[in-house]
Amino acid sequence: MARPSWRERVDAARDAREAASRRRVRRGIGHRDGAHVELDGRRLLNFCGNDYLGLSQHYAVVGALQDTASREGAGGVGSHLVCGHHQVHDALEKELADWIGAPRALLLGSGFLANLAVMQALLGDGDVCVQDRLNHASLLDAARLAGCRLRRYPHNDPEGAIRQLRGMPEGMAMLATDGVFSMDGDLAPLRELAIVARAQQALLYVDDAHGIGVVGPEGRGSVAAARLGVAQVPLQLATLGKALGGYGAAVVGDAALVEHLAETARPYIYTTAMPPAQAAATLAAVRLARTEHWRREKLGELAMRFRAKAKAAGLVLLPSDTPIQPVLVGDDARALSMSATLERAGHLVAAIRPPTVPEGRARLRVTLSALHTAADVDALVRALTVARDRAEAEARVATLKGWPPP
Ligand SMILES: Cc1ncc(COP(=O)(O)O)c(C=O)c1O
Repeated sequence: MARPSWRERVDAARDAREAASRRRVRRGIGHRDGAHVELDGRRLLNFCGNDYLGLSQHYAVVGALQDTASREGAGGVGSHLVCGHHQVHDALEKELADWIGAPRALLLGSGFLANLAVMQALLGDGDVCVQDRLNHASLLDAARLAGCRLRRYPHNDPEGAIRQLRGMPEGMAMLATDGVFSMDGDLAPLRELAIVARAQQALLYVDDAHGIGVVGPEGRGSVAAARLGVAQVPLQLATLGKALGGYGAAVVGDAALVEHLAETARPYIYTTAMPPAQAAATLAAVRLARTEHWRREKLGELAMRFRAKAKAAGLVLLPSDTPIQPVLVGDDARALSMSATLERAGHLVAAIRPPTVPEGRARLRVTLSALHTAADVDALVRALTVARDRAEAEARVATLKGWPPP
């Protein structure tokens, strides 16, 4: 018997990634202080985190974490259905449901797990899940693991969605979309998708990982921004690790659906509960996100400023009003080169390459936070312009080196 060698397979895959400028490396942050991070001994302005509202180091959030940890300890100790469910989890679920405007919320370990939980509990063999082509990886994997048929429609195309649903009239149907697209920053056309879902008797599920806290009245998310509620969107995902500055997620929606998840979803049942201290921290963060509107207002102003200055500098932006403001570069190596130049100039901006984004659509995913200042944004645009010009010069030199062809 000659099985393929796992080592050869891994080595070949790593070599191929290296050749295509697709290696992914982790960098160890030494310290984070508001909008700054310390990396390899240098202080950089961070433009690639998801702490949109600037809550993750807020004294009330960190204070709640410390207080609860000092009383209850560091861990969740058991699963929610055994002995890990505390009153503070209940309090957080109630606060989230009240804020987002739905009868119930259920805490899960992460947004990725929450998406697995939703699809696994609701879909199976013979069912169908129709998704936007640019949906987050966790939604795609969730449908694959649920064992249902998965169909994708062109980005933000409700007609594409209805065509896919019409083509598969048998089985239960779910229409799933990001509320705010994580790598593009634009919003899903939820009102149109709600009409599609109703016409096709599909359950509309909105993953609002990047919308909660940021868009809509009181930061209630993209469903509220579209003036929809639980009648049109019976389930939505709120992540707690982005605008709320903590870790974990909640599925929010119709009471019967949420309770069904709590009793059947394996990624909920067979895992350790969120540490109570983390729940207390997030509860404090939700209260700030609900009331401190200036954070959203400032984000809106910073996004407008960035767009105006970046466009004037000839940078290619995507249509987005949210704190996610990608600069489209196209080529992987060029995106890496720009990210490196930015870092030398004191700005941390991640290059996002395929397969996270489609081929030929590599970008610098600039994210803004209420902790940034207008001067920070201006300096970033200047640095982006220098990085773009340098990458263009490098590309010209590379072309000349190959000239004349042998
Ligand atoms: C749209 C979307 N859904 C889900 C997730 C996963 O959330 P979490 O980071 O809590 O696992 C992310 C985060 O990367 C995301 O961008």
